[in-house]
Amino acid sequence: MSKGIEGKVVVITGASSGLGEAAARHLCAQGASVVLGARRADRLQALAKELTAQGGKALALATDVTDYEQVKRLVDTAVRTFGRIDVMLNNAGLMPHSPLERLKIDDWNRTIDVGLKGVLYGIAAALPHMQRQKSGHIINVSSVAGHKVRPGGVVYAATKTAVRVLSEGLRMEVKPYNIRTTIISPGAVATELVDSITEPDIRQGVREMTAEMALPAETFARMVAFAIGQPEQVDVNEILFRPTRQEL
Ligand SMILES: NC(=O)c1ccc[n+]([C@@H]2O[C@H](COP(=O)([O-])OP(=O)(O)OC[C@H]3O[C@@H](n4cnc5c(N)ncnc54)[C@H](OP(=O)(O)O)[C@@H]3O)[C@@H](O)[C@H]2O)c1
Repeated sequence: MSKGIEGKVVVITGASSGLGEAAARHLCAQGASVVLGARRADRLQALAKELTAQGGKALALATDVTDYEQVKRLVDTAVRTFGRIDVMLNNAGLMPHSPLERLKIDDWNRTIDVGLKGVLYGIAAALPHMQRQKSGHIINVSSVAGHKVRPGGVVYAATKTAVRVLSEGLRMEVKPYNIRTTIISPGAVATELVDSITEPDIRQGVREMTAEMALPAETFARMVAFAIGQPEQVDVNEILFRPTRQEL
């Protein structure tokens, strides 16, 4: 159990694998109640069952973040079940890298729909509750790609840059409501994210580039816990971390 985390109600999108799953496990172990959203209901249910069997409080709800009504239902269910929402972790994402000249328009649309509009929908769903509570914490997951654009990852970088911009704007706008905002920008972490690359040659290249240095997903979970666990008057606005070996 951890002071500053114990008893908090944390809604996590993209909780069926990778960073979201690791955050759910870590925060639940620290005494948070976790509400898990993603599309793969079977994986979410299995995780919630496992966490509950260990004595934690966890709830799973199939959620597609490209649909505002589904995100609202996830957050409203958290509030109805646990009485409040303390943290909204907008984490769901995909990274279908390819050079623009390949014109992978469907990939571009999905990247924007999940990585940008999905984050906005998470904010929209959580904000009214947090305003009413006069407390809350919105954590948005960006990336090193939100700080640096590279050939082949342009649309992804554009959404991750946009996430940082809207998080900073949100930070200023929610001052009257005592709401904290954090951007977390990971470098290479070992998850299923590379599988979302639809071009086989690019997928293979990224896999080879990151395989040796990628950090375990628990690294991200510790960053989330650090931000949440600070005293209420401390607002950790941005965390950027990389494997020590990662140059870019
Ligand atoms: N791993 C890294 O190196 C790294 C680095 C920087 C930033 N990030 C960011 O970290 C976040 C998490 O990614 P990850 O690395 O943990 O990858 P991951 O293992 O592939 O997890 C992505 C999560 O997003 C969910 N998701 C995708 N589309 C969704 C949708 N339409 N609605 C709801 N959930 C959706 C997936 O669940 P379902 O498929 O079940 O819906 C899954 O739970 C992403 O925003 C990613 O851009 C990752």
